[in-house]
Amino acid sequence: MKQSEFKKRRKSLMERIGAGNIAILGSSTAKVRNRDVHYPYRQDSDFYYLTGFSETDALAVFIPGREKGEYILFCREFDATKALWEGAHAGLEGATGHFQADDAFPIDDMDEILPGLLENKSKVFYPMGRDPEFDHRLLDWITHIRSQSRSGVMAPGELVALEHILHEMRLFKSKEEIKLMRLAAEVSAQAHVKAMQLCKAGLYEYQIEAELVHHFMQQGLRNVAYPSIVAGGSNACVLHYTQNSDKLKNGDLLLIDAGAECDHYAADITRTFPVSGRFTEPQKKLYQLVLDAQTAAINEVKPGVPWHNAHDASVEVLTKGLVDLGLLEGKVKTLIKKEKFKQFYMHRIGHWLGMDVHDVGDYKVDQKWRLLEPGMVLTIEPGLYIPTDCQTVDEKWRGIGIRIEDDLLVTEDGHDILTKDVPKTISEIETLMRAA
Ligand code: GLY
Ligand code: MN
Ligand code: MN
Repeated sequence: MKQSEFKKRRKSLMERIGAGNIAILGSSTAKVRNRDVHYPYRQDSDFYYLTGFSETDALAVFIPGREKGEYILFCREFDATKALWEGAHAGLEGATGHFQADDAFPIDDMDEILPGLLENKSKVFYPMGRDPEFDHRLLDWITHIRSQSRSGVMAPGELVALEHILHEMRLFKSKEEIKLMRLAAEVSAQAHVKAMQLCKAGLYEYQIEAELVHHFMQQGLRNVAYPSIVAGGSNACVLHYTQNSDKLKNGDLLLIDAGAECDHYAADITRTFPVSGRFTEPQKKLYQLVLDAQTAAINEVKPGVPWHNAHDASVEVLTKGLVDLGLLEGKVKTLIKKEKFKQFYMHRIGHWLGMDVHDVGDYKVDQKWRLLEPGMVLTIEPGLYIPTDCQTVDEKWRGIGIRIEDDLLVTEDGHDILTKDVPKTISEIETLMRAA
């Protein structure tokens, strides 16, 4: 991502904060795994969105209209020994140089400098309640200013959740963001195709996971957007199954929910296909039903349509289909009203997608489902999960778990499916697997 993109975002944030106010945002902290080893570091999405800065121990301050510069970055000072052991870090020079901060200070000086920056500001925008230690610190700085009120300085009077404005910005993706999301989606789609081609009975779920990650990394996408789910047979009925430790068996389906991250932007794809390459008759019936539900939901993704419509469409198709196949009994309308589908379809149709796999942004505005608008990206992922011990349905359906998930960009005249390159009809999947 170009620095100019981050600059554009900061400008937009400054306008939303307004003169006379201030916003403060901290980086993610590095977490120790054991002794000298840390968990892989991933910058906080909000922080990266505004700064493009991927180091820990950093704090960004935004003060619209500040004469000496509106954007201040606190970070670690350059340390040659640290650079030798841990690799490059920007230092204050990099902060004002490459990262284009107007001013940079050592993070260790934060407590001395921050109270001065907070003086005479009305509102402080910050991620309220995200980090209790930071909340305390902020109150300490404000108390410090209050104690000096006799010298004429004013302490801020209002604390405001920064998320309201920032997450509304993140909900609408720019051209640059869509480029990265397309790349994440394309590479992830190729990995799913590879998994279909390589799949065979006797392999372990983790061996398929290894192929997915191998493809992501070979294409330069070194992180997964979330832990991959590779679930054979009834493991697919565990919604967040990530053990990926069982052997694949002919006659079972394999559900793969996996996506790569591209420069902090996620892809999120699910496909379900037969380990043997051929669906059994009961699997075919349930699979086609989920696919029909997905098609109905996808048709509801266009500007001006409430987000909820896609979910309603999927519920209608699935409930009707479950009655036709004999898994539910009764009138479709009543079954929907009583939410009987929830024993087999217990999650919602999808979620916003962006820097976080379950991305930020309000789903409702004034307690009403939000209307879709161009630039939003979301997933459409209906599923059916028939528990192995479900006594109310014929044995042939038990232990089948199916989900089909695609990533959609809302466009001016409808949508664009970013993940369309992975086959999903029964014949496309069987043809691809037969040819492998
Ligand atoms: N991979 C998480 C989800 O589909 O929501
Ligand atoms: Mn998803
Ligand atoms: Mn998913």
